[in-house]
Amino acid sequence: MARMTFPVNERGPPLVEASRVTVAYEGSKGEQIVALDGIDLKIAAGEFVCLLGPSGSGKTTLLKILGGFQLPSLGGALYRGKQLAAPTSQLVMIFQEPNLFPWLTVERNVAFGPRMSGRYRAGTAARIDDLLMTVGLHEARARYPHQLSGGMRQRTAIARALATEPEALLLDEPFSALDVALRRRMQRFVRSLWETRRTTMVMVTHSIEEALLCAERIVVLGGRPSRIVEDLDASSPALKDRYSPAFADTQRKLEALIDPFEDDIGDAQEPAGAVARAMPR
Ligand SMILES: Nc1ncnc2c1ncn2[C@@H]1O[C@H](COP(=O)(O)OP(=O)(O)O)[C@@H](O)[C@H]1O
Ligand SMILES: [Mg+2]
Repeated sequence: MARMTFPVNERGPPLVEASRVTVAYEGSKGEQIVALDGIDLKIAAGEFVCLLGPSGSGKTTLLKILGGFQLPSLGGALYRGKQLAAPTSQLVMIFQEPNLFPWLTVERNVAFGPRMSGRYRAGTAARIDDLLMTVGLHEARARYPHQLSGGMRQRTAIARALATEPEALLLDEPFSALDVALRRRMQRFVRSLWETRRTTMVMVTHSIEEALLCAERIVVLGGRPSRIVEDLDASSPALKDRYSPAFADTQRKLEALIDPFEDDIGDAQEPAGAVARAMPR
């Protein structure tokens, strides 16, 4: 497939960057598993990037490295051109399971960051109010997490992250625990959030459809060891309509790109014992 990315200089200087990132894990038998191999990736402020790839292709690993939550074996991550050795409050991660504080209301969960950092000022209450409105939780502000649906919990987690005014949200398959209808609503929600606020978004997904509908740019990981196999401009409005011919066309191309790696990686994830047992002796 033709590369359709913008030249880097049109995007502005990178906000976060992976530079020659290689990650090796130790497998169960002490063997080396190279999860990522020489990844170079620059993400500018205001981009909405989806990291797409089959299970086991190193998406979570790369996201953690971009956020300073994990150090690579080789290479490094940069934040605004400086080595990133630890997490920063400017890059906030959102996981599949929103880990809200169960003893705090929605409003208190969202206000948690500003309160803890002593940055709760006169204007903060109004900003929290505004955020609750944005994520559609204004009415539910006094509820506790156990009184919320899965989508509401995830929106609370996103509002809580945004309350600290980070430069980027790093989302790791944030909607994969939700049912299809809710998942679509959340995709529209995160997209409209980006359209109105232009907060930099880096979102991991293994859903091609989700990546196309949400992102401006899709970075595909695949192969063994995993590398960037495609870096695609997904900003065309036609790609935000799942019934457009362009959507179907790009979806087909991305499927062809990801499929060859699926079996390979699926096999590798079998426990070694299971494979050995299945082998004829
Ligand atoms: N802590 C770890 N120890 C050993 N292997 C790991 C560890 N974390 C991830 N891996 C392996 O690295 C590869 C990439 O994992 P991951 O980044 O979670 O991929 P993805 O998020 O795309 O599913 C997989 O083969 C996985 O089994
Ligand atoms: Mg993952």
